[in-house]
Parts: sequence; structure tokens; C-alpha cells
Amino acid sequence: MWPFKRRVASQAVQTKERFFWIGGRRHVEATYPLPKDLGEVNRLDFQHFVLRNGFGGNYLAPVNNPHEVLDVGCGTGRWAMELATLFPNANVIGVDIVAPAVDREATLGTGLDRRPPNYAYVQGNILEGLPFAERSFDFTHQRLLITAIPKDRWPYVVAELKRVTKPGGWIELAEPGYPQHAGPGLKQLWDSWVELCALRKADFLIGSTIGDMLETAGLRHVIRHAKDFPMGIHGGRLGQMSATDCLATGEALRGPTVGAGVRTAEEYERLMEMTRAEVNDPRSKAVLPFYLACGQRPA
Ligand SMILES: C[S@@+](CC[C@H](N)C(=O)[O-])C[C@H]1O[C@@H](n2cnc3c(N)ncnc32)[C@H](O)[C@@H]1O
Repeated sequence: MWPFKRRVASQAVQTKERFFWIGGRRHVEATYPLPKDLGEVNRLDFQHFVLRNGFGGNYLAPVNNPHEVLDVGCGTGRWAMELATLFPNANVIGVDIVAPAVDREATLGTGLDRRPPNYAYVQGNILEGLPFAERSFDFTHQRLLITAIPKDRWPYVVAELKRVTKPGGWIELAEPGYPQHAGPGLKQLWDSWVELCALRKADFLIGSTIGDMLETAGLRHVIRHAKDFPMGIHGGRLGQMSATDCLATGEALRGPTVGAGVRTAEEYERLMEMTRAEVNDPRSKAVLPFYLACGQRPA
């Protein structure tokens, strides 16, 4: 019933990752520039809620009663835990370089980190290969790793997702695009993050190509879906939530962006102020395209 339990126990390795602090935020030594702390847990859970609401669901792939589900770069584990609840007969694994920070309430049994019994976290680094046998999963999902994967490693990453997926199983990727109709503040703020990622060899503009990546990797029946998330009060509640997430991302990336010399502290604060004003201006029409793509591993 739980084929990974033994494997997880023997293969889960003690994390080798090292942490450092910028401006009071804990970061991990990796390509990935965002913090790994409780503040970021809150942002990721909120962002998950925004995406699920915006898309009207948690995935695109036509999966049917999967037995083994994997979420790569699972973050807080929220997506994986919801899949585990949706498919109580499935074994769901979330893999990440770092386990999420746990809130103290959870240790008292009153927090939000109570895990469904069919969900497990496993430490692993997609850039070093996943700690699972070939053909293990019916559904392999990876969302929002655009800042974590060097541009030239994407073919390896998709091949690795394909390796651990069963023939006939589905792989799904989900990544953001570049803001459209944005004002100068949001545009320049986003461009700062593009530059920050480029310094770390990642391509923050690659999101729109995820469907092509799946096709190039030999996946079949590739399905693509894109949705424009309104960014600001012009988009009602979804627009306000997207803007809140964007500004929280701005706070999370402030230290790394200024620390890398992409912007001075003053320039960065000015862009944050401009973005705050833009998202609160009903005349703004800014949207953020968000891409989903899934494909099936051939038999
Ligand atoms: C932006 S978060 C997205 C989390 C989750 N997928 C979601 O959609 O809420 C990216 C996650 O990828 C993890 N990550 C970064 N580099 C990774 C790597 N090389 N291998 C596995 N996970 C990684 C980070 O620790 C972080 O939890």
C-alpha cells in the first residue's frame, strides 16, 4: 500500500543544505533566491490559495485516481497535502531541498501543518536527481521552480521528472510569465528579478515555454493552458490577492536583489512604492500570465 515508506526511510538523506541570513530572512545556499522561513511559508500558502482560486483547481492533467503522486519543490507541501486529501487512496510525496519551517502551534496539534496520513515529505534536490526509482509515479507535478533551475538544466530536470513517471503517467509544470500592461514600477521591479535570476544562471522569462519543454522531452498529448491573473484592484478580489502576493515577493527578494547589486536599497524601495501605488490605481490594467502544461509519458 505504501511502497515508498521503506525506500524513504533508507534513502532520505540528512540535508546538506546550508543557510545564511539576509536582512533577517533565512536563505538556503542554492540557485533559488527566495527565503526559507516562516514568513515565506505564509506567502507560499497564500500564493497556493491565489493559484487554486484563479485556476479553479489544483491541476490540469487528466489524471484518474492516481496511486502514486509526486510534487517536486513542494515548498510548504500545501499542494501535495490537498492532493492527498483529494485522493485518499494515493500515496503522495513532496520533495524539496529544505523541509518547510514548522510553526510552533503545529507542534501542539493546533497549527496548519497537520499532514494527511498518505502524505510524506522527502528531502531531495532535483538538480542532483530525484531519490526515486524509475517509473514510480502516476502523476509528477512541479510548480514555481523557475527561479531555482539554471536555464541549461531544464532539459535534465524534465528528463528526470519523466524518468520517475510511469509510462502512461502525467507530468505537469506550472510557471509564471512576464507582466503585461504593467506600469513602470511593476515592470522595473520584475526586471530586477529577471536580472537577479540571470546572475544565478536562471531564466525568469522561461515560463511560457514549459509546454515546448515537455514536447521536446518526448511527452505525448501535451496540453497547455494560460491564465492572466489581474494584478491590482482593477481585478477584484483575485487582483488584490495577486497584488498582495507580488508585493510579498518583492519583500522576499529585496535582500537578494539589493545584495547582488542589481538595485540600490533606495532604488528598490522606490520601485516597491511605485508598484504599491500602481496596484492600488483602478486605471491600471496589469496582468500576470501564468502557464500550466502537462504531458503523458509514452508507454
Ligand atoms: C517558489 S517555491 C514553490 C513551492 C511550491 N511548489 C508551490 O507551488 O507552492 C519553490 C520551492 O522549490 C524548492 N527548491 C528550490 N530549489 C530546489 C531544488 N534544486 N530541488 C528541489 N526543490 C527546490 C524551494 O525550497 C521552494 O520550496
